[in-house]
Amino acid sequence: MPIQVRPLQKEDIPEVVECIQQGFADDPYFRWVFNAEQFNKQRNSSSLTARCLWGINNALFYVAQEVDVASTTPSPVLGVSCWLAPQPASQPESWYTWSQSLLLSFRQFLTNLRYLGRGGLITKRYWIWKAQQGAAQTELWTDKERGYYFCNIVTVRPEAQGKGIGRKLFEVVTDRADKEGVKCYLESSKDEPNVKIYEKMGFEMVKTMECEDGGEVCQLFCMVRQPKTDKI
Ligand SMILES: CC(C)(COP(=O)(O)OP(=O)(O)OC[C@H]1O[C@@H](n2cnc3c(N)ncnc32)[C@H](O)[C@@H]1OP(=O)(O)O)[C@@H](O)C(=O)NCCC(=O)NCCS
Repeated sequence: MPIQVRPLQKEDIPEVVECIQQGFADDPYFRWVFNAEQFNKQRNSSSLTARCLWGINNALFYVAQEVDVASTTPSPVLGVSCWLAPQPASQPESWYTWSQSLLLSFRQFLTNLRYLGRGGLITKRYWIWKAQQGAAQTELWTDKERGYYFCNIVTVRPEAQGKGIGRKLFEVVTDRADKEGVKCYLESSKDEPNVKIYEKMGFEMVKTMECEDGGEVCQLFCMVRQPKTDKI
């Protein structure tokens, strides 16, 4: 059956949250930054829901599903991607963007209140990662004029992997980046097989980011994709 990739809608959110949780259950970064014994799945769902609500208006958030014209019930969500649009350095943050970030912070604050904490998130590690990420992006995002499309989340349900859905979730943005002559960027928390998969999408590894706490290291692989000039 053909696969369609379309923008996230509010009614997709519960399935999208489940798809992300499933995709990242064995993710090295996720295991490093969360205390497995204290992990609260409901709280995590609430936090991801807030992120999805924000993403509908502020990110390039896509879902992939089969197109089944014969059925009246919607097909399940098979994959998800969330990208942040490029931010040229000369473009100051708008009031809209600022207010949307504030709304997201408020929703996250309510989640903390409701679940009495961060549901197993090791905040020290979160901030170590944030600092490393900020430093890596300052170093690697050399195209200040145009900025970068930043692939923040990509995941395909295990039973649907290896069938071209990930590629479609990439191409919806990489094709646009090619036409605009803009570079793309991602940070993969898995080396095998993800780095090879992203290389097939035209990304090249440019840096290994190391986050360390108490002797436990989490590596993230920073990858950049140059626009294909034949599409400009
Ligand atoms: C990474 C992921 C999104 C890729 O999606 P996918 O639907 O499995 O990928 P596709 O089937 O579209 O394959 C894309 C390309 O990678 C190649 N590929 C797929 N799996 C591969 C593997 N295990 N090793 C090497 N290449 C592979 C495919 O051949 C294809 O190349 P081609 O189009 O040139 O033939 C998916 O595997 C996934 O969700 N993994 C678990 C969650 C995750 O790790 N998310 C990212 C965290 S950084």
